[in-house]
Amino acid sequence: MAHLWSGRFAGDPDAALFEFGASFGFDRRLFADDVTGSLAWAEALSDAGVLSRADAASICTALREIGSRASDPAFFASPDAAQDEDVHSFVERELVARVGEAGRRLHTGRSRNEQVSLDLRLYLKRRIPEVQRGVVDAIAELVAQAERCGSALMPSYTHLRRAQPVLVAHFFLAHASALRRDHVRLSGVLDEVDELPLGSGAIAGTSYPVDVGALAARLGFSRVVANSIDATGDRDFVASFMHSCALTMVHLSRIAEDLILFTSEEFGFFELADTAATGSSLMPQKKNPDPLELVRGKSGRVIGRLAGWLTTMKGLPIGYSKDLQEDKEGLFEAEDTVCGCLKATGRVIAALSLNPVRTQAAASGLLLATDVADYLVGRGMPFREAHEVVGALVRRLVAEGRSFEDLTLDQWRAHSPLFDADVTQAITPAASVAKKRTPQSTSPSAVAESLRAMSQWLAEVRDVRT
Ligand code: ARG
Repeated sequence: MAHLWSGRFAGDPDAALFEFGASFGFDRRLFADDVTGSLAWAEALSDAGVLSRADAASICTALREIGSRASDPAFFASPDAAQDEDVHSFVERELVARVGEAGRRLHTGRSRNEQVSLDLRLYLKRRIPEVQRGVVDAIAELVAQAERCGSALMPSYTHLRRAQPVLVAHFFLAHASALRRDHVRLSGVLDEVDELPLGSGAIAGTSYPVDVGALAARLGFSRVVANSIDATGDRDFVASFMHSCALTMVHLSRIAEDLILFTSEEFGFFELADTAATGSSLMPQKKNPDPLELVRGKSGRVIGRLAGWLTTMKGLPIGYSKDLQEDKEGLFEAEDTVCGCLKATGRVIAALSLNPVRTQAAASGLLLATDVADYLVGRGMPFREAHEVVGALVRRLVAEGRSFEDLTLDQWRAHSPLFDADVTQAITPAASVAKKRTPQSTSPSAVAESLRAMSQWLAEVRDVRT
């Protein structure tokens, strides 16, 4: 059995070890990119006068034919393919099978070390916009929920204790804001990926006068790598992509956690659609949030892939080592997991219904204490003193099992003469949100403006990609 490197060896490799080292089982996913890169390389060699025009033409015709078989599973399952070490060997063997000698010239001046980097970069250039599309779709569901929730109020929590009333829309937009950062971060990864590694050879560069600038332009890269040693062993962009996916998973996991809590019997703020829940085989009453739990659970894999990949990279000498082959399965798994989870989360959110009676009730009561303190500040009391006065009032109300709305004016005034008859209207959840003044706050006008800005951003990013 001939391999791309058989000449150096007296015999065949150990079959088990060959299989252990082969990556064709998973790097097939780079097939289209390997063909794209090989076509451009053939043209570049021809432009450099290394390949004759005739050879380049027959190579390109054959590569196009090979590329057209991408969706034919039988093509990849031939007995010959079973012997291929990786996708690069597969494409080259198929090429030689079609055009013979000319095909054997294509690898001139090129190494698989740069080829695999090129393929991965081309792959991510195609796939990152798809992941971003998933992010945008999930954000759109959060925004749609924010719109549907109108002026409904709910408590916000710090330390998972009731903090202050907020618009339910503000809560959904909070999660949308985190996902929007993920979209921006992925654009950053796309920029990192946007460098042509070809021309680096195996490590030292290539001796043929290939116009790498033209090659970069042909393949859609805006620049060429700066250093061939670095380029052949650099997979930082894989780590960056995994990090981006991991952080998106962290955000999805936090959405999942919030919704698992808020759809529970204890909170009852939202109801999960029947289509987004699962029953129990034993307890007839159960309506379990399985899809959300899986999203939360799967965050572990993507974070694990990132940690694993950083660990693989950290001990490597500069330049290519076979350890780098470990990049692909982790990258593909991170991509698949984040795309699947974005979709699942979006569907659960789309089918979520608000229970405004529950959220409104939970948004009333002692969580208005800050507003009571602000009321006193408005009448001239220093904030620290107001905090103490209200603290004592809260202590009393907790002991009596009552809340602010149960107080008579005399009882208010017993705590401070600054309280007037208007205190009852001033201390309500609606008045609390209406009093907020900053653009990032939960005031209804600020939230309406955030909704508008987020919808406009969605329209813009959707427009760019169509
Ligand atoms: N399958 C290899 C990888 O994924 C391709 C590069 C092989 N290069 C080499 N010198 N063995 O990294």
